[in-house]
Amino acid sequence: MSSEKIERVGIVGAGQMGAGIAEVCARAHVDVIVFEQTRELAAAGKARILKSLDRGVSSGKITEREREQAAARLTFTSELSDFADREIVVEAVLEDEAIKTALFVELDRVVTDPDAVLASNTSSIPIMKLGVATSRPERVIGMHFFNPVPVLPLVELISSLKTSDAVLARAERFAADVLGKQVVRAADRSGFVVNALLVPYLLSAIRMVESGFATRDDIDKATVLGLAHPMGPLALSDLIGLDTVKSIADSMYAEYKEPLFAPPPLLLRMVEAGLLGKKTSAGFYEYV
Ligand code: CAA
Repeated sequence: MSSEKIERVGIVGAGQMGAGIAEVCARAHVDVIVFEQTRELAAAGKARILKSLDRGVSSGKITEREREQAAARLTFTSELSDFADREIVVEAVLEDEAIKTALFVELDRVVTDPDAVLASNTSSIPIMKLGVATSRPERVIGMHFFNPVPVLPLVELISSLKTSDAVLARAERFAADVLGKQVVRAADRSGFVVNALLVPYLLSAIRMVESGFATRDDIDKATVLGLAHPMGPLALSDLIGLDTVKSIADSMYAEYKEPLFAPPPLLLRMVEAGLLGKKTSAGFYEYV
């Protein structure tokens, strides 16, 4: 039986979500190993985390000493077998069912602690599909963070039909007591709570641009000034990544077969063009 307090975490993927989750874990005094496929991707992920820690210092959220201590708790690897002793693994790779499923097969093979929690940060893929890829679906759970992870306090927890109550309770204690996040529970339905509400709204805004109903700037200005949102739906789509918005929409459309979840042609064309938003320096906006 593992010790109750989780101290050894593995994060798979050091993109914007994986890096954010790793940073929050390291800031919460947890030992973190981050997996990336190549040294280059690991170096990029590390730079992303260090930049965010610097931002934490410059905005007065953490001290320089806390930044150094957090950075020292992070190790990077390109060997998944280094996750053997992890008590919880959070997967944050591309929002692609085949890639995530293959990864859960591997995690099932390499993580030796039978009590380990295998969590996915998926935004929209049913947890049951990931659970049944393993020999231990009762230990697989959805743990969905929000971008930017160090700033937004929410974690959605999603149990599949097979997730055990003990795993749900353990994941909830980790998110709330260790990471200091607020937790909501959502059913294992594509999109969970937040994306089931958010994605139709983002897609509607993209359709508005596409049809000439309103301009990009007016749509974003309207929601910031008229609804007090921190940013408009087009800027937010750029922040999330247009490829990710499309992938989430695809999963939700596959689940519900409702047109409001269907990705509009403008979104498809922008993804094909590599205009993915902030991460590629251009999407609905340009970033220098
Ligand atoms: N570490 C710690 N704190 C940080 C930080 C970091 N790396 N970066 C920023 N902050 C803090 C700042 O200090 C600031 O704190 P105060 O308000 O106390 O001063 C706060 O975060 C805001 O930062 P900034 O002032 O630098 O930036 P901003 O005011 O322009 O806000 C934003 C930027 C946080 C992105 C804000 O616009 C926002 O919250 N936007 C909405 C984001 C959103 O909706 N995300 C969810 C996307 S959906 C998702 O992620 C899930 C999915 O499945 C798609």
